Amino acid sequence: ADVREHWIASIPGDGIGIEVIEQAHRVLKQLEKLSKTFKLHIDTFNWSSNDYLKTGEYIPADGLKTLKKYDAILFGAVGSPDVPDHISLWGLILPIRKMFNQYVNLRPIRVLPGLSSPLKHIDAQDLDWVIVRENSEGEYAGQGGTTHDDTPYTIANEVAVFTRQGIERTIRFAFDTASSRPRKHLTLVTKSNAQRHGLVLWDKIFYEVAAEYPDVKTDKMLVDAMTVRMVLKPSTLDTIVATNLHGDILSDLAAALSGSIGVAPSSNLNPTREFPSMFEPIHGSAPDIAGLGVANPVGTFWSVAEMLKWLGEQEAGEKLMKGIEKVTESGFKTKDIGGNADMVTVTEALLRELENSY
Ligand code: NAI
Ligand code: MG
Repeated sequence: ADVREHWIASIPGDGIGIEVIEQAHRVLKQLEKLSKTFKLHIDTFNWSSNDYLKTGEYIPADGLKTLKKYDAILFGAVGSPDVPDHISLWGLILPIRKMFNQYVNLRPIRVLPGLSSPLKHIDAQDLDWVIVRENSEGEYAGQGGTTHDDTPYTIANEVAVFTRQGIERTIRFAFDTASSRPRKHLTLVTKSNAQRHGLVLWDKIFYEVAAEYPDVKTDKMLVDAMTVRMVLKPSTLDTIVATNLHGDILSDLAAALSGSIGVAPSSNLNPTREFPSMFEPIHGSAPDIAGLGVANPVGTFWSVAEMLKWLGEQEAGEKLMKGIEKVTESGFKTKDIGGNADMVTVTEALLRELENSY
């Protein structure tokens, strides 16, 4: 039989990123062994804040050229107390997202079995969302500057950049996503009352594209009111599309509402598949718990499940997701979700679940 091959670049990064990615490799090896239908070539790139402190760079000169050859990128987290956060973010993650045109950041959010939402009035099935975040421009376009720095007259501007092309491709992806889900419902989030240029363009393009998707029901929220709706009426939401900044903030809120940011996955997708896509838990390097072996690996495992599906390994991705749910349901939980298991115990429970599922 043909064995499918996938080349994966793994970038653990800093702090708990290193720990959770090590566990992710064990899970991938287990799936490879059990499925017998695919082979994974995993190469690790230890690009980290330590490198930056030594060499002044996160990504070596030919680094992106090397990464481009892979089918997917698995990423841990970057960030160190010794490096300003805007330098680590712009040094490692953002160049990958931008150079590889990963223009969609996709974040599924559900309350996994055995977890509870901090929202006391809801049942688990009331919170089942997908957030589609624009991931290449907008408020994080990187245009701007600072003059008269370190004087009483400092001027700094941060220019949000919205292009028809950038907006439209993200909105189309969101309609396709909504259309593929049972409820077929898409909510647009903007702030087009106060931001009357770029976000008015978002609204306009949204309704142009909506006309092509008569099967998808739509509505529209201002971002401030959206935070209220997410908390008070979560069951009225399904698929959500938002700008880079708004999507970033709303997805952290969503993750907290689902139980913990330690369980939340994200996919940085290049939908045209010209470049590799990148899969990462949404949490950061968590210096407060790094090295203790107590980080929740579930956000990374869920990201791995998304990666496998993206690579065409639907069965392995689904088995992994079911395995994760069995593990949380049976009480193998780290402290952030109310348990007392450590990271390795959770991982090993998952490895056993996978063994049983083949
Ligand atoms: P963080 O996500 O690292 O931590 C926030 C809180 O959540 C901490 O109390 C942490 O212990 C807890 N937490 C996070 N992930 C967890 C997990 N898997 N299991 C259990 N608890 C978990 O965010 P923070 O503290 O704002 O940032 C720390 C560093 O990470 C900074 O340098 C920041 O820039 C960077 N960062 C990097 C990201 C990335 O690489 N994509 C995303 C967010 C932050
Ligand atoms: Mg964020």
